[in-house]
Amino acid sequence: MFGKSKYIFYNYRLNQNVLERRSPIETKPIIVAIDGPAASGKSTTARILAGKLGYTYIDTGAMYRSVTLRVLREGLLDEIRRDESRITELLRTITIGFQGERVFLDGEDVSEAIRENRVSREVSFISSLKPVRDKLRELQQEMGQKRGIVMDGRDIGTVIFPDAELKIFLVADPAERAKRRHAELSLKANGAAVPGIEELEQEIIKRDRDDAERTHAPLKQHPDAVLLDTSSMTIDEQVSFVYDLVNKIARQ
Ligand code: DC
Repeated sequence: MFGKSKYIFYNYRLNQNVLERRSPIETKPIIVAIDGPAASGKSTTARILAGKLGYTYIDTGAMYRSVTLRVLREGLLDEIRRDESRITELLRTITIGFQGERVFLDGEDVSEAIRENRVSREVSFISSLKPVRDKLRELQQEMGQKRGIVMDGRDIGTVIFPDAELKIFLVADPAERAKRRHAELSLKANGAAVPGIEELEQEIIKRDRDDAERTHAPLKQHPDAVLLDTSSMTIDEQVSFVYDLVNKIARQ
């Protein structure tokens, strides 16, 4: 009797070890869709998670920012505000791609330029336009065809990949998000002035409202998405939480 249970225990331990060593890449590559409001920690979590999994990371916010940058550079913003069909020609000739973490607009590395404040101010408007969403939906769905991706944005679980095996909806208090954004901007400021925390919080609240109230693909939680409030979580905790979920799902 004793001998038998010892044998079973040994086998169990062996299986446990085998399971622990098996990475999700050796199993079934899945799509991880991470949505949530501005500065909720999506991009950082998604980037680190993708690295740990050996998956491709796609920051869809960077794609909307790239379209916005091109509109600003061509001085078309006012015209498009008057007549949204004016953006159609620009969309026909735009190319957006990623090389690792760098973002390329028409072949130029725009990874820093798309983070400028003038882009942040106008990106909600540009991302609310149907022709823009149609174009980027097509590109994003193509990028995820082979699965094995972590994609973050506002509508990934609801519109782009409603069949994603794992959908996460990240939220955090606006005050906490403003603090994080402030720390991030201060780190990169290189002596330049950084907006105050209160101002950043107001900007974040406004962007949340704009993103959630727009007609096309508004920010909302998919009913199957796992809700994760990161207000008092560290990045490590966020990544581990999602990583454990991926492991469970990818092994099924
Ligand atoms: O994630 P971010 O802050 O860089 O996104 C910039 C803007 O792009 C954000 O205000 C909303 C928009 N966006 C969107 O509408 N849909 C997405 N999938 C990603 C971003």
